[in-house]
Amino acid sequence: MAAVTFISRPVCVLPRLSSSCSPAVLAAAPVSVQHRNVHHAVIPRGKGGRSSSSGIAATVFGATGFLGRYVVNRLGRIGSQIVIPHRCDQYDIMYLRPMGDLGQIIFMEWDARDMDSIRRAIAHSNVVINLVGREWETRNYRFEDVFVTIPQQIARATREAGITKFIHVSHLNADIRSPSKYLRNKAVGETAVRDEFPDAIIMKPSECFGREDRFFNHFANMRWFGKAVPLIAMGKKTVKQPVHVVDVAKAIVNAIKDPDANGKTYALVGPNRYLLHDLVEYVYAVAHRPFVAYPMPRPIYHLIASIFEMNPFEPWTTRDKVDRFHTTDMKYPGLPGLEDLGIVPSSVEQRAIEVLRRHRRFRFLDADLAETKPAKTVNY
Ligand SMILES: NC(=O)c1ccc[n+]([C@@H]2O[C@H](COP(=O)([O-])OP(=O)(O)OC[C@H]3O[C@@H](n4cnc5c(N)ncnc54)[C@H](OP(=O)(O)O)[C@@H]3O)[C@@H](O)[C@H]2O)c1
Repeated sequence: MAAVTFISRPVCVLPRLSSSCSPAVLAAAPVSVQHRNVHHAVIPRGKGGRSSSSGIAATVFGATGFLGRYVVNRLGRIGSQIVIPHRCDQYDIMYLRPMGDLGQIIFMEWDARDMDSIRRAIAHSNVVINLVGREWETRNYRFEDVFVTIPQQIARATREAGITKFIHVSHLNADIRSPSKYLRNKAVGETAVRDEFPDAIIMKPSECFGREDRFFNHFANMRWFGKAVPLIAMGKKTVKQPVHVVDVAKAIVNAIKDPDANGKTYALVGPNRYLLHDLVEYVYAVAHRPFVAYPMPRPIYHLIASIFEMNPFEPWTTRDKVDRFHTTDMKYPGLPGLEDLGIVPSSVEQRAIEVLRRHRRFRFLDADLAETKPAKTVNY
């Protein structure tokens, strides 16, 4: 990437250069020098489509995950330059390449423990987004590393680089008193990011659903284990308010464009609240599968989950995940949400079919969604 020092002059000066401005006048014109190295491709131009330039050059950490692909696509379709730091083989993330115009998506290897690699990844960007996350702990990376240390280091590097937009994705239920270690560390991470970068935009989505999610797909896949779904207290004591992944990606992009968003924390939730039991029942109804739930005491659920945790690769469930899924979604009436970013949240009833069609016995069964009774909503 050819880095240039971007020198901007008042718009009126350049077009009229030949007719009215002498070199002496030009020399006297105020010149604002942006001291960061910014590629000329980030100067906005075009009509706003994939082949134009939005003026956004974003580094998206964690772009290879579930939410990442939606964020990259949303950025790509308005003509942004996107730097994707990754730690996997480039060929594994080829699906991201067509999301931007030719040459606009740049892959770059990084190591979360190497501050220089973080600095290199953000060197030519004017926006930094942190989507790094993991649902289980590994020997190399504990939740403290993934949700506190890494976001803190990215925030620090972003501030030191003089970048003014930093978006950090946390979790709606992040709480230091949560039974889930994931959520406790998310809460600590939010504070660490705020301390390091006070103007950071913090997004707090509830559980996201979408084609590649680990929420609806998780419950739908439970049918492989005994054709019945274990839920703590039959899922009648947990209230969930899932949000569509596309809405979260749109919120991130709109927050980049909104100069007033800096320093705010957003609670991103869907339009309806459901009892976990009713939500999972709806999942099975859309999938045209019989739904049989049975109450599972938390200690036994934990015992079973700890057996799955022995999987050295991706455990199907963990004790932490059991606790997280059985945590009631918090309400934040004081925080701005999707509507404040100009987004009308999509309901589960509108979008669930995208996730659940693959779970139908006859995948292309043309049964209309309208045939499925919507899940009961609650308002507590
Ligand atoms: N999905 C949800 O329902 C949901 C809800 C609320 C909040 N969130 C938060 O939103 C963020 C994105 O979620 P997601 O569902 O897209 O997560 P995801 O699918 O698990 O993706 C996580 C990303 O982080 C990267 N990553 C994890 N550990 C890393 C490490 N040690 N070093 C470098 N990269 C690492 C992964 O890279 P690799 O591909 O190389 O592993 C991947 O790109 C997370 O912070 C998550 O906690 C998600």
